[in-house]
Amino acid sequence: MTLREPPGERGEALEQAIEEAARLIAASRHVVALVGAGLSAESGVPTFRGPEGLWTKHGEPDLRDYERFVEDPKRWWEMRRDRANRLGELVQALETAVPNPGHLALRDMEEMGRLKHIITQNIDNLHQLAGSQAITEIHGNRTKLRCVLCNQRWPVEGFLLDELPPKCPDCTAGIVKGDTVMFGEPIPRDALDDCINQSQMCDCMLLVGTSAVVYPAAQFPVDVKSAGGSLIEVNPNETPLTGLCDVVLRGPAGETLPLVVEKLRAAR
Ligand code: APR
Repeated sequence: MTLREPPGERGEALEQAIEEAARLIAASRHVVALVGAGLSAESGVPTFRGPEGLWTKHGEPDLRDYERFVEDPKRWWEMRRDRANRLGELVQALETAVPNPGHLALRDMEEMGRLKHIITQNIDNLHQLAGSQAITEIHGNRTKLRCVLCNQRWPVEGFLLDELPPKCPDCTAGIVKGDTVMFGEPIPRDALDDCINQSQMCDCMLLVGTSAVVYPAAQFPVDVKSAGGSLIEVNPNETPLTGLCDVVLRGPAGETLPLVVEKLRAAR
């Protein structure tokens, strides 16, 4: 079911798609949500691509970010304030953002036993603030630090930064950096293993607010589909995966996901 009807009839078609999505979720064994920046757009956090996207407005990110960190981690740490100023719009939004009804709907689905896991590409910590429990942050979390060697993580708050770059207090051999995965940085092994395991168990994947152009995240739905699973896209716009999807909710996640939760509750 995809929504290409003229605006007039869209209400009816969206209503049907929401019914269909609820039915598919209720009939599935292991539903996983693959989440992108679009879920946090209604919390005021800018997305990356599209007309208002950060990369559209400020130019593509530095794809050698991680290479520069490895070359000179001390300098990376000394430059962190300048970086924050350069992406001031994003940092400001991240500091004030709160979960929106889309995050709360995913939390509700988890509480109802209808959603087993969230794989999020977002670093904004909004799933945790919404009360979701089963989360893998494939691109890290802005409120944490991570050892690049042993993957141990700590909250940024309270971590002693008396020497730069900070050495890992656990394995003592690695260097500690922000948990947010930089361009050019390998996805931490523990997070990647979680995502692969979840995708292998998944028989229905929700694609919520992602342009599905960044790998390896964009590969997970393709793997679920080729293993016989179903895909539900939740996005006001088409994506390269739209054609693979069984159901498309062509609208904002903050409006459509709560309607799916209502249908799931009514069907219990
Ligand atoms: N509800 C649902 N989807 C929305 C909404 C909304 N209210 N608003 C926008 N979208 C959709 C857009 O149509 C787009 O398809 O969210 C998607 C956002 O796409 P991107 O900005 O590319 O974000 P994302 O897919 O998360 O990017 C993946 O790229 O730059 C890296 O590390 C960054 O994690 C990010 C990764």
